[in-house]
Amino acid sequence: MQTILVTGGCGFIGAHTIVDLVENGFNVISIDNLSRASDASLLGIEKITGKKITNYTIDLTDKAATEAVFIANPDIVGIIHFAAYKAVGESVEKPLDYYENNISSLVHLLQMAVKYNAPHFIFSSSCTVYGNPDTIPVTENTPLQTAASPYGATKQMGETIVKDAAFAHPLSTILLRYFNPVGAHPSTAIGELPIGRPQNLVPAITQTAIGKLPKMQVHGNDYDTRDGSCIRDYIHVCDIAHAHTLAIQYSMKNNQLNSCEIFNLGTGNGITVLEAIHAFEKVSSVQLNYEIGPRRAGDIVSIYANNDHAVNHLKWHCKYDLEDMMRTAWQWEQSIAK
Ligand code: WQD
Repeated sequence: MQTILVTGGCGFIGAHTIVDLVENGFNVISIDNLSRASDASLLGIEKITGKKITNYTIDLTDKAATEAVFIANPDIVGIIHFAAYKAVGESVEKPLDYYENNISSLVHLLQMAVKYNAPHFIFSSSCTVYGNPDTIPVTENTPLQTAASPYGATKQMGETIVKDAAFAHPLSTILLRYFNPVGAHPSTAIGELPIGRPQNLVPAITQTAIGKLPKMQVHGNDYDTRDGSCIRDYIHVCDIAHAHTLAIQYSMKNNQLNSCEIFNLGTGNGITVLEAIHAFEKVSSVQLNYEIGPRRAGDIVSIYANNDHAVNHLKWHCKYDLEDMMRTAWQWEQSIAK
């Protein structure tokens, strides 16, 4: 069995990806310092897959501790690197924390990938790198724009670092640009656990519906879109997770060293905030307490993916639609309220 190291394995996308990797026959180990996630995810993964996953609770900015994991696990052939800080607003207040954490952890992991011959490397990137695009849907060749936040800058720099490392060393690397991952595993054993007041739309919806938040705001309905609210490409976290398994398999099959390939991971459907809310209301039968508020600073008006590259080359197909995303997010919220 081939061992894949997943960093950030206790986080939202990391935990769902571990489930998918295990279900597809991979041996998985995790590194997560638990600074932004809980190791309860490991119990959820075990509940779904029957497998106990080893998590090393170490910090990837600690190079010696990172190296020790590679020394203890000489069978690591691939790395999927999720671990990073990801709050846009916080990154504006604490840019140096973001640069230190997100960049040094990536550099250390790439150094270990080279030194310990783990050539298959997948990096979590983001549609943030496109900024406010001139044309939509965006393809992988759409020009990138200046990052709107230090968080976004760490993703752009991360892409450059991975690309440069791949050209200089025998690595087969893939950059996955996620659009808006939402929903939860249908078992409700794992899902998203936002820290503090949720900034993202779907946790704000489900927390309002369950009564954790009294009311939520739609950030602007005066944009030039079909109903005035912003357009995003929401995608089920299990579809995102499966794309990682396909990407690792693709990298292993082609074994093209000195390569760096980019894939957009979105459904290709642009959905407005109000459409997302109405889909939630339909599947939950809850009337959401929301009001129209002002625009949120820094919001992009409209973005969604052209996902042809992932469909054609990874043979990736989204299984979950918008209602499935809302249904599973709602089931998860209800399960953690118990
Ligand atoms: C979606 C839409 C809001 C909350 C984030 C990250 C980005 C990337 C993708 C990882 C927007 C509106 C939200 C609320 C609302 N992630 N909204 N009321 O901004 O597209 O991007 O996820 O890399 O880096 O910033 O996602 O979920 O915050 O917002 O009306 O209470 O929902 O204005 O139009 P966003 P989001």
